[in-house]
Amino acid sequence: MSSITIIGAGNMARGIATRAVAGGHAVQILARDTAKAASLATDLPGAVTTGPVGETIAGDIVVLALPYGAALSVVAELHDALDGKIVVDITNPVDFTSFDAMVTPDNSSGAQEIAKVIPAARVVKAFNTAFAGTLVAGEVAGQKLDIFVAGDDADAKAAVSAVIESAGMRAIDAGLLRRAHELEAIGFLHMTLQAGFGNTWSTAIKVLGA
Ligand SMILES: NC(=O)c1ccc[n+]([C@@H]2O[C@H](COP(=O)([O-])OP(=O)(O)OC[C@H]3O[C@@H](n4cnc5c(N)ncnc54)[C@H](OP(=O)(O)O)[C@@H]3O)[C@@H](O)[C@H]2O)c1
Repeated sequence: MSSITIIGAGNMARGIATRAVAGGHAVQILARDTAKAASLATDLPGAVTTGPVGETIAGDIVVLALPYGAALSVVAELHDALDGKIVVDITNPVDFTSFDAMVTPDNSSGAQEIAKVIPAARVVKAFNTAFAGTLVAGEVAGQKLDIFVAGDDADAKAAVSAVIESAGMRAIDAGLLRRAHELEAIGFLHMTLQAGFGNTWSTAIKVLGA
């Protein structure tokens, strides 16, 4: 069993917490709106603790279920508390004004920019290509979700992959953290495709034949 702290209490926090509880892991949800965190916890079947952002982080794995800009500020604020932790970046750093570009430098990614702020943490990119509702459901069209995992620390990637597998999904090793650039592009593309699929946000990116 792993201990997982999720920062944020929105849609992705719900999806990832649902899967983590299903996998038998201990979950802590920290949010600026503690009532929202408490309400999410009551919807989950496992023993889930909650508190404000800034409370002692219980998890060895910390999931940033925050918009990209907020994730950057929160890791800067928490900084030392994240030393040695596995920090999972799930963001798609899309420019939501134009919905036509990323806000990150061309040769970088949200995950790499976050890693620069917390160099003593072990940053892993995961979950950014999966939509929140599909994580709550745990499957799409009767098939396991594929979750792509990128990072420079092999042990950290293995720990995140073990959580993913235990929660009924398939973890796919996507390489080093710099592959987050491509994963975020796929996440963005998947979002732009939704209009053509009736905006149900219920599709999944999956690798077949392997
Ligand atoms: N939704 C998806 O299907 C999906 C799929 C893949 C990746 N992602 C990525 O996942 C991340 C979270 O998305 P989401 O859909 O879960 O968003 P969301 O439902 O809007 O939830 C965002 C959470 O972040 C909190 N937050 C925002 N700014 C904050 C700040 N400055 N300090 C502390 N907390 C802050 C919000 O708190 P309040 O409730 O108080 O505002 C809320 O709890 C994003 O980076 C997104 O790109 C989303």
